[in-house]
Amino acid sequence: MWQFFSLPATLLPLLWQVTTAATPGGACNNSPDLCSKTYDNVTHLGAHDSPFLRDSSTDFSTAGNQFYNSTVQLDSGVRLLTAQVHAFNTSSGQDEWHLCHTDCLLLDAGKLSDWLSEIKTWMDVNPNDVVTVLLVNSDNGTPQDLDEQFSASGIKSYAYIPPSTTAPPTSGSWPTLGSLISSNTRLMTFIASLDPSSNTVAPYLMDEFTFVFENPFEVTDATNFTCNPDRPSSVQNSPQSAVQSDRMFLMNHFLDQSEAFGIDTPNVDAIADTNSPTLGTSGGLAQHMSDCAAVYGRSPNFALVDFSNVGPAMQSVDMVNGVQQAVGRTILTTAVLQEAAVENGAARANGRTGAEKRSQFAFIVGFIVAIGLAS
Ligand SMILES: *[C@@H]1O[C@H](CO)[C@@H](O)[C@H](O)[C@H]1NC(C)=O
Ligand SMILES: *[C@@H]1O[C@H](CO)[C@@H](O)[C@H](O)[C@H]1NC(C)=O
Ligand SMILES: *[C@@H]1O[C@H](CO)[C@@H](O)[C@H](O)[C@H]1NC(C)=O
Ligand SMILES: *[C@@H]1O[C@H](CO)[C@@H](O)[C@H](O)[C@H]1NC(C)=O
Repeated sequence: MWQFFSLPATLLPLLWQVTTAATPGGACNNSPDLCSKTYDNVTHLGAHDSPFLRDSSTDFSTAGNQFYNSTVQLDSGVRLLTAQVHAFNTSSGQDEWHLCHTDCLLLDAGKLSDWLSEIKTWMDVNPNDVVTVLLVNSDNGTPQDLDEQFSASGIKSYAYIPPSTTAPPTSGSWPTLGSLISSNTRLMTFIASLDPSSNTVAPYLMDEFTFVFENPFEVTDATNFTCNPDRPSSVQNSPQSAVQSDRMFLMNHFLDQSEAFGIDTPNVDAIADTNSPTLGTSGGLAQHMSDCAAVYGRSPNFALVDFSNVGPAMQSVDMVNGVQQAVGRTILTTAVLQEAAVENGAARANGRTGAEKRSQFAFIVGFIVAIGLAS
């Protein structure tokens, strides 16, 4: 009995339950209703900072944005994965591209090519799914640098190439999910940012802000979520210009809390409200999507959340897509949702680890600044 109760929380995913056999005949992104819809007429659920985990692999780092890895996120219906890419020098001086949260000293989730391989493996066994990857190009990798990573992972063979890299298709004229799937160009890739005029090497790497606009992020007060365009600056604070530009709308919907050293971390205490599928919940996901649909006359194209299993966030997205009987998706049982609560507790118990990491990080950053000032 003792041993049962001391089972690590990480073993509980064994209690996952699959809704149907993995033969979603005729379904696209888990529903037959979505095949005939254009890519830009579907709301895609996004896992913000998808590879930055708050689990045992990171000592429940308080910098982590997700409880489950990218594979599990995809299994549960997430179809947009975001991450930050940083230049990384190994001790032998070899340059690599890593997925790091803010800085590789804070949270290093390994090589970009390894993560892309993980996504490719998932796409290999899920041939009826369109997946979007959005990379923040923190250290200004060139098209060639990034292309090498996509080639090494093998995922490049799935990449969709837009008709133009310098202007978005007019609204409603993106391919349908069905056609992306039948042509097996099921990977949509956006980079923030990559100057399209310098990118002849890898036209599948779409410059995010040529194709997409976003509302503000770094929100630390649940009453402060807004639908107003923030980036790119050409459409800032003007929903009308954003619509006229034919860009798709990525709705940031994640809440941070401010901590010492000016570092914001995901607000896990408020996550049930933040990801709430119940209309009327202040600062909740479904309500925010509804508010933004009123502003733009259509639902957001992407809804980007932390801890995507909570809510579950998928429920809000299914509502706006009109999906009622999703197929081939792993849903979270109550047991797994309880696990999230257990992990919250563990994250708190391990808070010192996170705080130590942040303080070490702040110390090093402070040290570098001091050296810079002294020299
Ligand atoms: C993702 O997590 C699941 C369980 O949480 C685990 O079984 C699987 O091996 C992980 N996959 C990767 C690629 O890390
Ligand atoms: C990696 O090494 C190169 C060459 O020594 C240097 O220019 C670059 O700044 C280093 N990058 C990082 C992130 O340390
Ligand atoms: C919320 O938004 C208001 C108005 O933009 C701003 O003055 C305030 O600082 C914001 N609060 C937080 C906690 O970010
Ligand atoms: C798709 O089109 C329908 C009908 O015009 C609209 O209600 C819905 O909001 C659209 N969704 C997106 C993401 O554009």
